[in-house]
Amino acid sequence: MPFPATRLRRLRSTAPLRALVRETELNPSDLVLPLFVEAGLEGRTPIEAMPGVERLSISQAVEEAGSAHALGIPAVLLFGIPAHKDAEGTGAYDDEGVTQLASRAIKGAHPDLLVLTDVCLCEYTDHGHCGLLRDDGCVDNDPSVELIARTAVSHARAGADAVAPSDMMDGRVGAIRRALDEEGFADTPIIAYSAKYASAFYGPFRDAAGSTPAFGDRRGYQMDPANADEAVREALQDVEEGADVIMVKPALPYLDIVRAVKEQSRMPVAAYNVSGEYAMVKVAAAAGLLDERAAVLEALTAIRRAGADIVITYHAKDAAKWLQQ
Ligand code: PBG
Repeated sequence: MPFPATRLRRLRSTAPLRALVRETELNPSDLVLPLFVEAGLEGRTPIEAMPGVERLSISQAVEEAGSAHALGIPAVLLFGIPAHKDAEGTGAYDDEGVTQLASRAIKGAHPDLLVLTDVCLCEYTDHGHCGLLRDDGCVDNDPSVELIARTAVSHARAGADAVAPSDMMDGRVGAIRRALDEEGFADTPIIAYSAKYASAFYGPFRDAAGSTPAFGDRRGYQMDPANADEAVREALQDVEEGADVIMVKPALPYLDIVRAVKEQSRMPVAAYNVSGEYAMVKVAAAAGLLDERAAVLEALTAIRRAGADIVITYHAKDAAKWLQQ
């Protein structure tokens, strides 16, 4: 035992000292707020599984985006809920689709706010899977990739500042990059959901977007929660194909993955604090079991500490308000 013993507590003794040696910062400028926009909706509809989150009409989405921006949040991530779903997910790549209309409206009203769009087919397919189905019920990779690239171009044409493919098909980042370049969107970045796990924590989102698979599950395309090396392979492959930002999803149960992907890719990394993570905190706080503000700020700081540059979270507006106080 060395004497005098190292006193690590010395730097913890006052708030200014703690601030001086703090390693990680959490700022509103690190946050992205997801928005659910529903075609044909008037006003707002609460989402039961996600207390405090609502499905929005396009005009309400414009308002919500504006209030997030006013709090210092630089970006929203749009999820469209179409009026009509079909086997091919045609609403996804319709230039007059709900995400496209919402992108145009939000960019028109708030040109300095970044509009990011989720690119996937599952919100638009009647079977709820993220691509086209083969006769045997398996998602057919290459034809799905074509439609996903078409969707990304359609979003860019509607003014999206960046596209975020969440389908987990192989080769989609490269296909999207080529399609964007060919259509004159060489400057539109791709935020790739590279390490997206087949997670139980998406449950409340699927309620919100009505995108629960009608049969089976997503384990044939999303990652096995038991794997870490594979996440690094996914990330590096997406970088090779042209991804500009790498995403890990969910966030809190996967902080080791956030760290590994950051260290091995040296790319900007986004982590998605998903619907189930959000719901757990909200329900526990409502039951008086957690201090919501302290729990949320701690969780979001921990995600940043793990290596995330960007945190996508339904808590974004509350966190931005608390950070400004
Ligand atoms: C669409 C998509 C999902 C989420 C984001 N994009 C659902 C899924 O893959 O089932 C989940 C987001 C959340 O849970 O907050 N593919």
